[in-house]
Amino acid sequence: MLFEVLRYLCTPCPRQARALGHLSGLISLGARHRRCRRAWAPHLERCRALMLDAARACLRRRTLLVAGSGLLLDVPLEDMSGLFERVILCDVLHLPAIRRRARRLPNVDMVARDLTDLGERVWADLRADRIPDLAVPVPTHFLDRRDLDLVISDNLLSQLPLPFLERIVRRFAGLDAGELEDFARRVVEAHLVWLGGFRARVCLIADVERRKLQGGTILECEDPLFGAVLPEPERTWGWDMAPRPELWPDADARHTVWGYSDFRPKG
Ligand SMILES: C[S@@+](CC[C@H](N)C(=O)[O-])C[C@H]1O[C@@H](n2cnc3c(N)ncnc32)[C@H](O)[C@@H]1O
Repeated sequence: MLFEVLRYLCTPCPRQARALGHLSGLISLGARHRRCRRAWAPHLERCRALMLDAARACLRRRTLLVAGSGLLLDVPLEDMSGLFERVILCDVLHLPAIRRRARRLPNVDMVARDLTDLGERVWADLRADRIPDLAVPVPTHFLDRRDLDLVISDNLLSQLPLPFLERIVRRFAGLDAGELEDFARRVVEAHLVWLGGFRARVCLIADVERRKLQGGTILECEDPLFGAVLPEPERTWGWDMAPRPELWPDADARHTVWGYSDFRPKG
């Protein structure tokens, strides 16, 4: 814990990303992975296998974009760098250790970008003590890149609304829960529309259900996509995200993950 606090204080990070919780999110992700390494291994392996299948199915392999590359826990980076002419790792924030790992590979670039396009506006509203405008834009990042042959949305979808929701709820406790859920769903849907805008092949990996379990009993079940609907999955698997006592002394958190090596949004 002390190590994580020091890391949080010492890591250089733009103010907005720090204020919206992206730095603490990445540091916590790394810490949880260290504690749950064995439980996470099968999930991470499934993700890597799906990404490699998607990559090998591409007829041309000029540029790969990985959206939500984070700590590269589930990205077979060295393999991908060998398969594609260029690899772009995109996340709202890249930690120094990840930058160092990517720098070893000459064809890997890193782009720090808020893929919702909401961060600046929501943060400005929060700083001004205004109830944030809940309109959701459809992002356009990278859509003009004609050299992309594969875009991977990497365990990112369910995470996109969370930093905003947490901060809005904390600051404006009385807001209508239905309106906030609707906002979260539209953030998820905007990402799916964005993915649908690429000419490139799209690989999507997303958690679609979160369960709190005690033995075989389901104590709670949550929809991390807030009602957004995905087509039938190509592959599905369980992710032992937080075996006890990680979140609760006597219960486990298990996620259901859906994976597509060739994703086409519904409708
Ligand atoms: C569950 S983690 C994915 C982990 C990553 N695939 C890995 O292997 O380490 C979700 C990722 O989404 C990123 N993220 C969250 N909101 C984002 C946003 N608005 N734009 C871009 N990335 C975002 C987080 O920083 C984090 O790296």
